[in-house]
Amino acid sequence: RRVGVLISGSGTNLQALLDHTRSGLSSAQIVLVISNVAGVKGLQRAQDAGVATKVIPHKNYKSRQEFDAALTKALEEAGIELICLAGFMRILTGEFVRRWRGRLLNIHPSLLPSFKGMHAQRQALEAGVTLTGCTVHFVSEEVDCGAVVTQEAVPVLVGDTEDALVERIKTAEHKAFPRAMEMVARGQVRLGEDGKCIRI
Ligand code: GRF
Repeated sequence: RRVGVLISGSGTNLQALLDHTRSGLSSAQIVLVISNVAGVKGLQRAQDAGVATKVIPHKNYKSRQEFDAALTKALEEAGIELICLAGFMRILTGEFVRRWRGRLLNIHPSLLPSFKGMHAQRQALEAGVTLTGCTVHFVSEEVDCGAVVTQEAVPVLVGDTEDALVERIKTAEHKAFPRAMEMVARGQVRLGEDGKCIRI
């Protein structure tokens, strides 16, 4: 499967996906990395791995619709079959989500449906839970709501800071995202008509 990864920042999850596909046994091949922000570390990671990159600054577009249309055009031109959102900090339009239905994965730093939205790790600390984690899910039109592909649990430790928890969850993300990408690329999990995952 030809995979495109969308990023906005440091790209540690992108790195985990790249490392996974380099193992040679993967059904996923990352062929394009798109960032909406120029100069971010994730773009360098892609270049170092010999993967094509493209910067599509959202500020150059008058509307979300036009920005998303530019994304779709670049993804289509590259023959992308599966998209991984790896720290991509833009909300996508319904039109984009429908165009890529069942082919669009996101990673979120909590055990969904808990702690949707921004600062999920801080939300977990404030809620006082002792277990949180990360979720890879198919993207649906409602933010952080699509069908769960896979999750990893992470303990919240006594005296945890937000930074410490962010880092611990990231380590789990770097296992969960390659696993989810692989499962979807192999067709072991797909999105059913009812919005739920079909697993074989
Ligand atoms: C991750 O925590 C991910 O869950 C969230 O954005 C962060 C991206 O980090 N959606 P990185 O750029 O992969 O290091």
